[in-house]
Amino acid sequence: MQTIKKLIARQILDAVNAEHPDAGLTEEEIASALEYPPDPGMGDLAFPCFRLSRALRRSPVQIAAALAEKLGGGCVGAARAVGGYLNFTISEGYLGDKVVPEILAAGDRYGAQTFGKGKTVVLDYSSPNVAKPFHIGHLGTTVIGHSLRRLHEFAGYRCIGINYLGDWGTQFGKLIVAYRLWGSREMVERGGIDTLVELYVRINNEIKGDPEHGVPGNSELAEASRAEFHKLETGDEENLKLWRWFVDISLAEYQKTYRQLDIEFDSYLGESFYTDKMPAQIEILRQKHLLKTDDGAEIVDLSEYNMPPCLILKRDGSTLYPTRDIAAAVYRKEHYHFDKAIYVTSAQQCLHFAQWFKVVELMGYPWYNELVHVPYGTVSLNGEKLATRTGNVVLLRDLFALAIDKVKAIMKEKNTGAENIEETAEAVGVGAVVFYYLSNNRMKDINFVMEDALSFDGNTGPYVQYTYARACSVLSRAGWQPSGAPVRITCGEESALVKLLCRFGERVCAALDDYEPSYITRFILDVAAAFNRFYHNCPILSADDPAVRESRLAITEAARIVLGNAFDLICLKKTEKV
Ligand code: ARG
Repeated sequence: MQTIKKLIARQILDAVNAEHPDAGLTEEEIASALEYPPDPGMGDLAFPCFRLSRALRRSPVQIAAALAEKLGGGCVGAARAVGGYLNFTISEGYLGDKVVPEILAAGDRYGAQTFGKGKTVVLDYSSPNVAKPFHIGHLGTTVIGHSLRRLHEFAGYRCIGINYLGDWGTQFGKLIVAYRLWGSREMVERGGIDTLVELYVRINNEIKGDPEHGVPGNSELAEASRAEFHKLETGDEENLKLWRWFVDISLAEYQKTYRQLDIEFDSYLGESFYTDKMPAQIEILRQKHLLKTDDGAEIVDLSEYNMPPCLILKRDGSTLYPTRDIAAAVYRKEHYHFDKAIYVTSAQQCLHFAQWFKVVELMGYPWYNELVHVPYGTVSLNGEKLATRTGNVVLLRDLFALAIDKVKAIMKEKNTGAENIEETAEAVGVGAVVFYYLSNNRMKDINFVMEDALSFDGNTGPYVQYTYARACSVLSRAGWQPSGAPVRITCGEESALVKLLCRFGERVCAALDDYEPSYITRFILDVAAAFNRFYHNCPILSADDPAVRESRLAITEAARIVLGNAFDLICLKKTEKV
């Protein structure tokens, strides 16, 4: 599909080449220089002609004036030179004859790209730690990760979503001790993951104590936990059985949340899977003389790269988080032959990823530069930071449940006429949380305010889902079917809306370039605003002229398609009735 920038770039290039065939410019260079002016009075697109000054050996003002005379026709309505800029408007004929029919014909593929064809991306995201709470700090990795997956799929990549479960580590020693001391099979069967988390929190508190209030810690429990984990590591049947059970219970619980979000993973191979794959990597590190002994531990010195050393083996011979990540990356490369491996975690892990990426490079793996870390900022709830090890955490599940309840109450109060309140409230409640979260650049720290997320009037999920439902309702009341009738643009609201719609493909590319789902969220808000302006100011069903009515219905359908495609990219459900 041709983007509007490419079409205009083509015209500029043809005009330049007609006089300067040896200018050596490419369509891509010109397209990437085209800008959307902040003030629509200056046109729909602008080209800064100083970009051509060197190649054409003329001043930007001269170039703009010369080009303005030559350009026009096709998608260009008018081209005007303003100083060193060439300002364009997009022609209404093009919007009606080309853009709208193109959207209707492409349907759920409108905006899709092909540059990922034949390439594989592995995405490692969500990855909660079993037995520890799946809390709102995981919202980022879960929804940013999944959105990046959808974006890559939309660009043609084969995507492998991996949930690298934190299913191994000393926490299992603690959990086994706590379970034997205070738990029972019935209790865990009844309480599920909540009971596991309670047990885990309880033993942590006992081990730590509360020195400020004179409560001593318990080193015996700490010692017992280490011993039980050691037994687990050395294959003790009893402990292995408990461990598997704890993992299964946790996974079943996470899957409820994933279902609400429409998220599926291709693999749940967690940390435990890589235990026997680490020695081979440690051997390579040793052979390449990359390991150094430091106070009994084995490290890779990274001082040359201004980073603290990467810890590979602890003093007691146990391996560490980076070692496991290296082994997992090697396995994934061999198994999936990825062209890119993306890891989505909080920004607190930036150093960890920078370190082991560097180690992979030093080990001589040629694919080290295919590893991408995508970090994101912290989440707090009404200003309160969310700790993990204490009981003071907000679970993702509870956050969604709260949102769903509140939406249900609003729907009942508003008497919105939705048929299936339960289903709609879930789609809107979960969507509100996701949309609110993805509205900001991912690195921004977010303070979650539920009332703001749920407002039907603000720039929220409920508002955009409501807009989508509104478009559906207009179309269904009209009993609209595609007729191929010509689409005419008759007013400013229509042209503003369609101009926005045709930028979708570019937004998709930009979101992929910067790993930024928020570009899609903001695009949705722009489309929703433009659609609502069109809806309020231009009679659709009651238009006097049947041709205008038909055109407006086609534009409504085009807006519905683009909104829906964009919703799919950020895990927002398409609600036909709200
Ligand atoms: N389980 C880790 C955590 O919750 C995240 C894992 C991220 N992925 C990775 N390959 N290190 O902090």
